[in-house]
Amino acid sequence: MAVVEQPDTVLITGASAGIGAAYADRFAQRGHPVVLVARNPEPLEALARRLAREYQVKAEVLPADLTLPGERERVEERLRTDAAIGMLVNNAGVEAGPALAEASPDDVDAMIELNVTTPSRLIAAMLPRLVARGQGSIINIGSILALAPELFPGAYAASKSYVLTYSLSLHEEVARHGIRVQCVLPGVTRTGIWNAAGGIEAFPPRMIMEVDELVDAALAGYDQGELVTIPSLVDSVEWRHFQEARRRMLPELSRSVAADRYKSDISEDA
Ligand SMILES: NC(=O)c1ccc[n+]([C@@H]2O[C@H](COP(=O)([O-])OP(=O)(O)OC[C@H]3O[C@@H](n4cnc5c(N)ncnc54)[C@H](OP(=O)(O)O)[C@@H]3O)[C@@H](O)[C@H]2O)c1
Repeated sequence: MAVVEQPDTVLITGASAGIGAAYADRFAQRGHPVVLVARNPEPLEALARRLAREYQVKAEVLPADLTLPGERERVEERLRTDAAIGMLVNNAGVEAGPALAEASPDDVDAMIELNVTTPSRLIAAMLPRLVARGQGSIINIGSILALAPELFPGAYAASKSYVLTYSLSLHEEVARHGIRVQCVLPGVTRTGIWNAAGGIEAFPPRMIMEVDELVDAALAGYDQGELVTIPSLVDSVEWRHFQEARRRMLPELSRSVAADRYKSDISEDA
């Protein structure tokens, strides 16, 4: 008799709204049980009830403020120990916040806690189990600002650069253990994040993507085996060229001698 494999359970952070809620919908539609994490339990519970009803999957809520170590630990523990969870979507993130010159140390710290520390800790909690199992997937939601820090003030772009670089490092380490990594770089996407950031209307409509379009494209990229998915990028060759330019520099990035242009004995008219 054929054994019917149960699809992996997917834990999604920031699952109650926006991009995370769309991921929860799509994974439930694909038959995956889901564990939904965010701070406010009511929207999470409403979404879990709808997913269970529409797609006949198990949908559980795990309310936690991921900036509070005591609450985040409950999520880490779940990822560490629940053998059914084979996929993690690190989606919860905060909006752009104040410009660097206006941000208090606590403002910067709060962003790093949610955008940087939380995905790193959740992955660290789950990874040994996935490696031992030889299978699993991690999807990290970055931002196109990782590639375009000049477009927005504040530390947000830097936090998303971390997510991108971390994802590339993670892939290098764990692909051989059968673990899939994908980093998704959304552009401006119509979600509630802009209520706090103030004004999605500042952007021309041609720059704004609807959330379903974004998540469906990101999942198409996942299905195609992409490591980095940029849903708006028209020609994927551009990303390849960007990576090739970076790799071309590799042999010269660490050498015993400084480049000639930094040598004081080279006169300008030499
Ligand atoms: N929308 C865009 O234009 C855009 C562009 C590029 C990248 N992104 C990235 O996409 C991701 C999702 O953004 P979104 O636009 O979908 O945001 P959103 O609509 O504001 O949703 C944010 C989700 O995260 C949860 N959340 C916020 N703070 C949390 C915390 N401290 N602990 C646990 N959960 C928390 C929220 O629920 P609670 O409030 O109940 O906690 C909500 O479920 C973020 O990483 C964001 O940086 C968004």
